[in-house]
Amino acid sequence: MSAKIKLPKLLHLLLLYIIHTTSWTAAAAATSSFSQFQLINRGFSVTPSQSPFQPILNEPSGVFSLGFLKVGSSQLDLAVIHLPSRQPVWRAIPASPGSWDNSVTFSFNGSLVLSDSGNGVLWSTGSVDGDTLVLLNSSNLQIQKAGKPAASVLWQSFDFPSDTIMQGQNFTSKAALFSNNQKFSMSLGFDYLALYMEFPGVAAPRYWKRTALQAKARIIQGKGPIYARVNPTGFLGLYQTEAVPVDVISFDTFNRGIPDLRRLTLESDGNLKAYYWNGSSWVLDFKAIPDSEACQLLSACGAYGLCRLEDPMCACLDNTTAICPPADSGNLCSSGRGSSSSVGGDDYTVFRTKGVELPNKELAGYHKVGSLEECEQSCERNCSCWGAVYNNVSGFCYSIDYPIQTLVEAGNVQKTGYFKVRTRASSKSKSKSKAGMVVLLTVGVLVFLAATGFGAYRVWNQIRRRSQDGLDESTVEWPYKDLKSGSSFRSIELSESFRK
Ligand SMILES: *[C@@H]1O[C@H](CO)[C@@H](O)[C@H](O)[C@H]1NC(C)=O
Ligand SMILES: *[C@@H]1O[C@H](CO)[C@@H](O)[C@H](O)[C@H]1NC(C)=O
Ligand SMILES: *[C@@H]1O[C@H](CO)[C@@H](O)[C@H](O)[C@H]1NC(C)=O
Ligand SMILES: *[C@@H]1O[C@H](CO)[C@@H](O)[C@H](O)[C@H]1NC(C)=O
Ligand SMILES: *[C@@H]1O[C@H](CO)[C@@H](O)[C@H](O)[C@H]1NC(C)=O
Ligand SMILES: *[C@@H]1O[C@H](CO)[C@@H](O)[C@H](O)[C@H]1NC(C)=O
Ligand SMILES: *[C@@H]1O[C@H](CO)[C@@H](O)[C@H](O)[C@H]1NC(C)=O
Repeated sequence: MSAKIKLPKLLHLLLLYIIHTTSWTAAAAATSSFSQFQLINRGFSVTPSQSPFQPILNEPSGVFSLGFLKVGSSQLDLAVIHLPSRQPVWRAIPASPGSWDNSVTFSFNGSLVLSDSGNGVLWSTGSVDGDTLVLLNSSNLQIQKAGKPAASVLWQSFDFPSDTIMQGQNFTSKAALFSNNQKFSMSLGFDYLALYMEFPGVAAPRYWKRTALQAKARIIQGKGPIYARVNPTGFLGLYQTEAVPVDVISFDTFNRGIPDLRRLTLESDGNLKAYYWNGSSWVLDFKAIPDSEACQLLSACGAYGLCRLEDPMCACLDNTTAICPPADSGNLCSSGRGSSSSVGGDDYTVFRTKGVELPNKELAGYHKVGSLEECEQSCERNCSCWGAVYNNVSGFCYSIDYPIQTLVEAGNVQKTGYFKVRTRASSKSKSKSKAGMVVLLTVGVLVFLAATGFGAYRVWNQIRRRSQDGLDESTVEWPYKDLKSGSSFRSIELSESFRK
């Protein structure tokens, strides 16, 4: 598995590194040549010219800026950036992303609109009729309507978070947080906060849940939904009314007098992390799923992965192979070719593994059955079911109704897993295009290296060091690995397209 798998990974790392280092230095030098505003009136419009970040609107303290942000290799988004760290704290994330090649226009006509000459409106705040667009020093972008005694707020970015909530921002039950790669989400329930993994067309499985302890205040039905807010003293509070929180999730620096800015981010590995800004970097202050429970991250070891708290952490559920089946999506219900292994659905093969259990199985649904056969049959007959885990002591049968992710090694053999793998018809053409892509990438990278000359040695050095740090030795797929936790500007689109 080594050479074949490592090459794309190295290329990928290389590309990430190149994008990371080259672009920002250029931007810093050029920033001053752009008009930046502290308030935008109706009728304003601007088009992008400076990658990777072109400030449009600043706030008075100079910490945050709204502007065009380059994402991945060529895509464009609208983002609010924490300037000292270049960390995006809010992004518009249009359904179809803008491109630096097309003529994208940012305009404010009462609503904020991002449009492109080919596709029309890419993203907008919906039709509101404001007078000014302002960026507050909390990083909140607001469309305001002049009025007495004070301007009213018609729209604010704090109500539409992307992957981060900032200190002071209310996270309500109307909002959801999505990780940068859009694979994970966070939302509030009646009395809890939870993390989910997203699959198109499938009910999102929950893999972390914090039920409000209600120690100092109880949640009262009919008094409105709860909301969450990061407090400057170092905790995530769940509130129903402002008076007293119904729960306090404290960070490491809780009440330690850290004066600066805090944020809470749903990372691309599915973990929820809090950070504070110490003046030169974001310092990790809280992890919803601590390292000692790393296997409880639903995709800790990727699709069809097996996670254990020893070295190496990851393997394949099917121990006869070193390369796990590729990540799948949807269900197995679409076509009915009617072979013996598909009952009114797609073709699949089956394998079984002893000694595994679901991560956070207390959050998973189960039904009680009399035997392993009964458990397997209930899954076999149902094309929404991707697998099942049976515990022959309790008789519990856990059905996995989403494409198989990582399962956790269980000490005892009483737990048996049954897993379906879709039978792929045209894997030949797929690997062909993959090879083509690797060649293309290689050529691109070589050209770049030739052009930079000097940078090359540093890059390779960096990669060597990273590999030695152990980043490159498991079967973990790239998007699941938190490459530079807490750092700015992760190249999401790039890693996404690379996987295909
Ligand atoms: C602002 O522009 C958008 C997109 O072109 C348009 O749909 C909307 O009606 C405009 N709003 C006003 C108040 O002109
Ligand atoms: C942010 O603005 C508010 C009022 O507009 C002000 O009271 C506060 O001190 C400002 N904070 C910072 C960090 O500048
Ligand atoms: C958060 O919600 C509280 C209570 O509704 C409100 O007083 C406060 O202004 C809100 N903060 C923001 C930034 O919207
Ligand atoms: C901030 O944190 C970084 C990393 O932990 C550390 O290297 C740096 O010295 C800290 N800076 C300050 C001002 O404390
Ligand atoms: C794979 O697992 C089975 C039990 O599930 C075990 O009997 C077998 O020895 C394992 N094979 C390898 C190669 O580890
Ligand atoms: C198949 O599984 C899904 C998900 O658990 C369930 O909602 C549905 O009722 C099952 N269908 C049958 C026929 O059992
Ligand atoms: C459960 O399965 C294991 C392994 O197959 C077996 O040794 C054990 O006797 C079974 N226990 C019960 C209660 O059936």
